[in-house]
Amino acid sequence: MTSLLQFARYRVEDGVRDLLGKEISARVSETNLESDLDDAILAGIGAYALRRHLPGDILQGIQVFTAAGSHALLLSNLPMQEFPPTPVSGFGDETELAVTNAIHLGLIRILGCTPFAVRYENDGRLVRNVVPNPAASGTTSSWGADSEFFWHTDNPHQPFGPPGSDPRLYTPPYLTFYAVRNEERVPTEIAALDDVVVRLDEETRLGLTAAEFEIGAPDSNDREATGPLVRTEVLEIGPDGRHRARYDRGTTVGITDAAKRALERWCAVLPTVPSAELVLETGDFMIFDNRRVLHRRKAFTPRPHVRARWLRRCYAA
Ligand SMILES: [Fe+2]
Repeated sequence: MTSLLQFARYRVEDGVRDLLGKEISARVSETNLESDLDDAILAGIGAYALRRHLPGDILQGIQVFTAAGSHALLLSNLPMQEFPPTPVSGFGDETELAVTNAIHLGLIRILGCTPFAVRYENDGRLVRNVVPNPAASGTTSSWGADSEFFWHTDNPHQPFGPPGSDPRLYTPPYLTFYAVRNEERVPTEIAALDDVVVRLDEETRLGLTAAEFEIGAPDSNDREATGPLVRTEVLEIGPDGRHRARYDRGTTVGITDAAKRALERWCAVLPTVPSAELVLETGDFMIFDNRRVLHRRKAFTPRPHVRARWLRRCYAA
């Protein structure tokens, strides 16, 4: 069976990258821009330069991504600024990352999306530093390194939002990343939910669409602030007619016997599903649909703190 993963990959030419870097650096150096306070300004600066310099086919690919119902998009060789040491405590000085933020938020704007944060995670800050935080050792949090992530979607303990609603109350529709450094060459793996669904038997599929599951919050959440979603389904068909799922092995439980059986079958099928294994490199931007893609990361040994793996993640709706 071939993979149903719709994954668009583009690479920016070196000349265009350098031009973009020069122009965006000049614009952001005029003031002190911070990702939480000045996100709209940063997005405007980034989007303007990207629209001016990216070739038409890349711009078109980004603009139609959400409407086309693609699973994922990767854009490589974006400008790389001088990066500070990896902020392994989780937070750093955002004004030092103005070029990176302008590109990241500018791309989200060209995608036609809105960046957002949730108050119960990451101190409510817009951009999450995905780093090996020693304080998160042993947890399956995006700040962990030594624990393996099984296939999951992010924040599955929230319901799916109706179009046009406040995204902060719901499962994040899209996850976006800018890779700062990944010298450990840790891959991020993605798999299309459609590839899981075609491998499920009818009984399992029906079982997963019954509201007979309890789905809790991941380790990265402040648990006092977010309860589990009870009597909910793992799999459903969205208003666009496409399957969507919310799932995290560590926090998803079947309440009935039928639900437990369906979950066992689902877990047995996941390792057989084709996936794309991506080693994100400095200057890579990636977006994927968190409702229609499962993702995972294996355990790894981080480099010393200043050079440790560092991705920047932002939710988008
Ligand atoms: Fe995740």
